[in-house]
Amino acid sequence: MNTTGKVDVLLGLQWGDEGKGKVVDVLTPNYDVVVRFQGGPNAGHTLEFEGQKYVLRSIPSGIFQGGKVNIIGNGVVLAPDLFMGEAKDLEKSGHPLKERLHISKKAHLIMPTHRLLDRAYEAAKGKAKVGTTGKGIGPTYTDKISRNGLRVGDILENFQEKYAAHKARHMKMLEALGWTDFEGFDEVEKTWMEGVGYMRQFHFVDSEHEINNILRSGKSILCEGAQGTMLDVDFGSYPFVTSSNTVCAGACTGLGIGPNKIGEVYGIMKAYCTRVGAGPFPTELFDETGKMLRDLGHEYGAVTGRERRCGWVDLIQLRYSIMINGVTQLILMKSDVLDSFETIKACVAYKLKDGSLTEELPYELEGVEPVYKEFPGWKTDMTKFTEQSQFPQAFHNYIKFLEDFLETPIKIVSIGPDRDQTIIL
Ligand code: GDP
Ligand code: IMO
Ligand code: MG
Repeated sequence: MNTTGKVDVLLGLQWGDEGKGKVVDVLTPNYDVVVRFQGGPNAGHTLEFEGQKYVLRSIPSGIFQGGKVNIIGNGVVLAPDLFMGEAKDLEKSGHPLKERLHISKKAHLIMPTHRLLDRAYEAAKGKAKVGTTGKGIGPTYTDKISRNGLRVGDILENFQEKYAAHKARHMKMLEALGWTDFEGFDEVEKTWMEGVGYMRQFHFVDSEHEINNILRSGKSILCEGAQGTMLDVDFGSYPFVTSSNTVCAGACTGLGIGPNKIGEVYGIMKAYCTRVGAGPFPTELFDETGKMLRDLGHEYGAVTGRERRCGWVDLIQLRYSIMINGVTQLILMKSDVLDSFETIKACVAYKLKDGSLTEELPYELEGVEPVYKEFPGWKTDMTKFTEQSQFPQAFHNYIKFLEDFLETPIKIVSIGPDRDQTIIL
């Protein structure tokens, strides 16, 4: 583990929901500080310990272990009303935050009108809609890039004036899109403003300075990615992606750290694959097996409750994600979900539309056919195991194959949602 003032980055290698929150919580004792660098309340990171379950959206998953400082970096987008709800719930359940959760002044604010714009753009796309979480992520990052954003630091001066100007601009855009549904808007706006007031009780920081000072003092930082590599705006299955850089490089721009500061890159992968929302998914299963994965894995969205699409693990896609992120070690999640399967499949090549085979992720994923390798299932309940030596031989073999094919070691295997159901290899 990292103790030399380096930053380790943990991120999802598939289409999100790989189990990042659980692993951040497990690894937090090895670090001094935990930070989020991109995304916003589109994320839903689930943690379970001591019989309790928590879902975090904007607050880093390092908040539960050892009273450590957690930082929301400049690359994150924050909705004050949702942040207030999340933070108050945590405080109510006995996890005080105000002193140890720091928020970058450069993080952008998701306004109520950004959420309406999100819905309006989706409606305008019709059948081609992305299936966003509806949290205003796209419109907020669009405003950031087009130099029209409202930031956390803006709260400190003439906020009402700035808010009104941004809102007026958004209203014109909504009008142009033909959007007329403003039901409940005034109420939402009121709670949002309350959220802004609530946020003022937290430390607003120049997080790039804070983070680099932490590193200079020899302390270690764990970065918690949100979404997954296939949802990255540059490298994901565009346009069916989110609007931020979810890949490792996003930690540099989303925090203000040099690439030479990055140490370990933990790649989180499920032993199968899921996706929420629209877009290509080569190994998706529409049959009983897909349903079995969904039922056994409880594959329903942590934020929206939507059914997750399920399929076999895709090693071509994973190899691509490992390459883009420079993954140094893999963490295999939800292997217990496969405990009862007779046969397990992994995609080891794609057949393209012209009939040729490839092991490289193509520009166009729609319409590619997966070529599978089959493995005998281990047919053993692994959920109560405490060490690697208890793994059945068939599972050992499966892990070995994954490591060889992906040319990356698997260092942790997760065998259930609880913090304790974690085997370090
Ligand atoms: P994240 O967004 O990457 O943090 O993942 P989510 O929290 O959205 O989804 C992962 C889901 O799987 C959550 O409900 C977790 O409690 C659960 N989970 C995590 N690890 C395991 C595991 O090893 N086995 C099982 N069965 N569930 C797990
Ligand atoms: P975590 O961090 C899974 C998906 C949405 C949609 C697309 C764009 O929990 O893994 P957005 O609202 O971001 O504009 O939606 O991205 N999506 C996620 N899918 N896990 C997530 O986060 C996601 N965040 C966004 O379903 O397809
Ligand atoms: Mg999630």
